[in-house]
Amino acid sequence: MPEIKFYKHEPIPMEMHKVKVVQQLHLLPARERLAKMRAAGFNTFQLHNADIFMDMLTDSGVNAMSDMQVAATMHADDAYAGSETFFVMRDKLEEIFGTPYCLPAHQGRACENILATRFVKPGNCVIMNYHFTTAKAHITRVGGHVEELVKDEGLVSKSDLPFKGNIDLQKLEACIQKETPENVAFLRLESGTNLIGGQPISYENMKAATELAKKYGILTVLDASLLQDNLYFIKIREPGMADKSVREITRMIADLFDLVYFSARKFGFARGGAIVMRDEALFHSMEDLIPMFEGFLTYGGMSVREMEAMTVGFDESMDMDVISQGPQFIQYAVNQLDAYGIPVITPGGGLGAHLDCLDFIPHVPQQQYAACALSCALYICGGIRGMERGTLSEERNADGSERLASMELLRLAFPRRVFTLSQTEYVIDRVKWLYDHRDLVGGLRFVHEPATLRFFTGILEPIGDWPEKLTEAYVAEFGEDQ
Ligand SMILES: Cc1ncc(COP(=O)(O)O)c(C=O)c1O
Repeated sequence: MPEIKFYKHEPIPMEMHKVKVVQQLHLLPARERLAKMRAAGFNTFQLHNADIFMDMLTDSGVNAMSDMQVAATMHADDAYAGSETFFVMRDKLEEIFGTPYCLPAHQGRACENILATRFVKPGNCVIMNYHFTTAKAHITRVGGHVEELVKDEGLVSKSDLPFKGNIDLQKLEACIQKETPENVAFLRLESGTNLIGGQPISYENMKAATELAKKYGILTVLDASLLQDNLYFIKIREPGMADKSVREITRMIADLFDLVYFSARKFGFARGGAIVMRDEALFHSMEDLIPMFEGFLTYGGMSVREMEAMTVGFDESMDMDVISQGPQFIQYAVNQLDAYGIPVITPGGGLGAHLDCLDFIPHVPQQQYAACALSCALYICGGIRGMERGTLSEERNADGSERLASMELLRLAFPRRVFTLSQTEYVIDRVKWLYDHRDLVGGLRFVHEPATLRFFTGILEPIGDWPEKLTEAYVAEFGEDQ
């Protein structure tokens, strides 16, 4: 979007929409929030939405829909088989990605289930720039393993590198040779990366990596769930891309891959998912799994109303005015936090602002789930719900020992078109207060530890009475009603 100039002011991010429907928010007082946190087993996934002031858990399925999306839901064609809505959606995806074949699924992880079930055999390897929790869980569930080959610089929290999600091409070739090409089920590139700060991957890197895979006859898969932010970054950061339209860049990327899948809870501003492809044989190799796990081939577990909304959302994702706003708000928050000296991942990526918990609370070890502890502390200190993206999100090693995450992050997601700049300022202010009182934050331990995806349903407890002390310090600063 054009940078709006101010007469007496430095530029600030501008909303390129106006609000038509609102949801009222409530701010519980801090002591009540502490009680809610206890009841939620010190896991922000277990909180009730009604008890949250700023929900920055995720951008998944909680982006604001446009008036045109809501209008589209009214002419959805409800049919078990052959719904016109599906064909309109499929045609839109073909227009955008150049892929005539579409397998619908109820969300991104459902696509991952289909891909893992069809292509991963026990002992197989799937190579990635970086894993996503559900993608990895599906691959390991069927006996495969994951190799993550993001360049070392992607795991450095402070940086000014534009594409920290790039895969290391030398490591990629070495890994293919070590595993042998026959044992590599597919190469999966995530654009951009979820677990390492929403950092983008460049077009050039995707091109080189997919060419390498093709040289060895390896299937190539793009996870396009976070593509809209990545498109924005390619257009503004990658040499030679500024003059290309978002549609042109999207098509150039899609042409590199055999398969593209996405969560439409993110890409498309609605709720659903799909796998799309150019090759008919690939389509037939997976189509039987859709009715088995998802629903008939023309709805795949989705509501037709959501499919209509996402079809409009795909077009909106091709509009630079629409896709600029998330990254610009995130960069604004990152700049302010950084100026306060708060450890935050730089440069700002897509999806959200990410606090580096190893530097924020260095006295809390990863074994005590530092990122989860900080997420609980921030809920107590402001009613802000973020998501742990660190050791709790990992699975234990085969011998039962903790697998320490390469980055221990607290993610503050910016769902699209949802929050205003004053709400963003509130979050920055409360993070600053928490940073100035970081010594009060302590660790957590499990009370109930699930075997897999433990961050969703795990129940934890604080080590010591730090939540009470933190709450009382907060009340002393802001008063009993805050
Ligand atoms: C990169 C990426 N891939 C896949 C998924 C899974 O999508 P869903 O939540 O729709 O199952 C997500 C969700 O956050 C994601 O960020």
